[in-house]
Amino acid sequence: MVSRFAPFRIKVVEPIRMSTRVERERFLKQAGFNLFGIDSESVLIDLLTDSGMSAMSARQWGALMQGDESYAGGASFRRFQAAVQDITGFEHVIPAHQGRAAERILFSVMCKPGDVVPGNTHFDTTRANIEHSGASAVNLLCGEALELSTAYAFKGNMDVAALQGTLDRFGRGRIPLVMLTVTNNSAGDQPVSMANLRAVKTVLARHGIPLFLDACRFSQNAYFIQQREAGYQRATVREIAREMFSLADGCTMSAKKDGLSNIGGFIALGDGELARRMKDVLILTEGFPTYGGLAGRDLEAIAIGLEEGLDDHYLQYHADLTRWLGERLSAVGVPIIQPPGGYAVFINASALLPHLPATAFPGHALAAELYLEAGIRTSATRFPSAHVPLREIDLVRLALPSRVYSTSHLEYVVEAVARVYQNRAAIGGLQMVYAPPVLQNFTARFARITRSTTDPDLELAAAITPRSHT
Ligand code: F0G
Repeated sequence: MVSRFAPFRIKVVEPIRMSTRVERERFLKQAGFNLFGIDSESVLIDLLTDSGMSAMSARQWGALMQGDESYAGGASFRRFQAAVQDITGFEHVIPAHQGRAAERILFSVMCKPGDVVPGNTHFDTTRANIEHSGASAVNLLCGEALELSTAYAFKGNMDVAALQGTLDRFGRGRIPLVMLTVTNNSAGDQPVSMANLRAVKTVLARHGIPLFLDACRFSQNAYFIQQREAGYQRATVREIAREMFSLADGCTMSAKKDGLSNIGGFIALGDGELARRMKDVLILTEGFPTYGGLAGRDLEAIAIGLEEGLDDHYLQYHADLTRWLGERLSAVGVPIIQPPGGYAVFINASALLPHLPATAFPGHALAAELYLEAGIRTSATRFPSAHVPLREIDLVRLALPSRVYSTSHLEYVVEAVARVYQNRAAIGGLQMVYAPPVLQNFTARFARITRSTTDPDLELAAAITPRSHT
C-alpha cells in the first residue's frame, strides 16, 4: 500500500466556511481565547480532537436504518455485544453514552475514598472520575516519555519499577485496580508495548490486583506493536489487540475514537459479579443494560466502526498521514513530541515560544495564534509532569479526526504553522481570567497580557525569559 493512500473514496461532502482574520479576532475575544468556545462554522480546519468527529462509512450509515430501538433486548445490542466480545474476548459488555460515563461507573463501583489508582497517564476525565470517587490518580510514566524530542518506540509505557514501589507502599488494600491507557494520549499519543503490558500484568498478578485498559485507541496501539515490536510483524492488528485484552481484566472504551463513531462507549470485563454491580449503577444513571444511554442505531454504527477501525490498511493510512504531518512540521523547525502519534501531532509550545513562561500559557497563546492566522482549531494541553522534576510544558495538539481531512487540508495546515513559526517572537502571552474548578481546559477564559498588568507573575510573563526544554 502506497504511503498516505486513502483506502476510501468520498461520497458525501460538507462545505467549509471561509472567514477573515478580522472576524476571527472577534470570535477569539468572544470565546475568551479558548478555542472550545468557538462556533464550528467559524473554523476552517478542525483539529481540536479526533473524538466523535470521524466520518462514518457507507456501511455505518446503512446500518443506522437497522437500529432496533426496543427498550429492552434489542437486536442492535446483541450485534454490538458480539462485536465487542469478539474483539476483546470479555464476556460482559456494558454500553455507555461515552468514555467518561464508562469511567464514572467503573470507578464508582471499584474505588473508595483513600484508594490509589496507578496509570501510565490518566486522561483528564479519567483522573477527574477517579478523584470524584474519593480515590487518587497516580501517573507512573516511563522515563523515555520525558525526552520529548527523542523518538523511542514505546513512550507510552508504564514505569514498572515505580509501579512495584507504589504497590509496596499502598498494598492491595488501597489499590483496587491499575489502568493502562492505550495509546497514552496525554503523554503525546504514544503507544504501550506488549512487553510492558505483560510486565505490568505479571507484577499485578502477584498482588491479585486487576488491570484495566483505557482502550480508546486500542487499534492504533496494536498497529504500532505490529510495526515496532519484535515478533509481531506477521500478526494481524486484530490478533495483537486480542492479545492486549487477554492481559487485562477489563476495559473502558470511548467508541468516539477507534470505534469510528460519533457517540458511544462501553465497559467490557470478565468478572460477572463486578459487571452486575456496574449494571445497577448503569440503570440508575445511563439506562437499561441493553442500550446504556445510546440509541439502537448508535450501537449498530459502533459495532461496524470497531471492525473498520481494525483494518490494517486504514490504520496504516491514518498513522502515515499523522507521521507525514509531524515530519513536515519538524522540517520547518517546529519542535514536536517525537515520534508523532497515531492520530495526533503535539507541538511543544513552551519550546516554540521560549519568551513565554508557563504563567503566560504558551500553549493557549499558540493555539489562539493558529486560529487567528488560518482558522485552524487545535487544543492546548500541558504535559503531565506532576510526578517528575520537570517544569510544566505546554503542548498544542493537532488531532486528525478519522477519514475527514485530506493531504490538501494538511498542506494548508503546514503552511500556516510555518508562518506562525516564522513570526513566533511577536506572539504575546495570555492570562487566565476565569479558572473553572475542574477540567479547566474546556471552559477556562483568557485575555491578552497587556503592559498595564500589575500582577508580578504576569509582568514576569510579559518579560523575555528564554527557557530550555528537552
Ligand atoms: N480516555 C482517553 C484516553 C481519552 O482520550 C478520552 C477522550 C476519554 C478517555 C474520555 O472519552 O470523551 O468519550 O468521554 N478524549 C477526547 C480527546 C476528549 O480529545 O482526547 P469520552
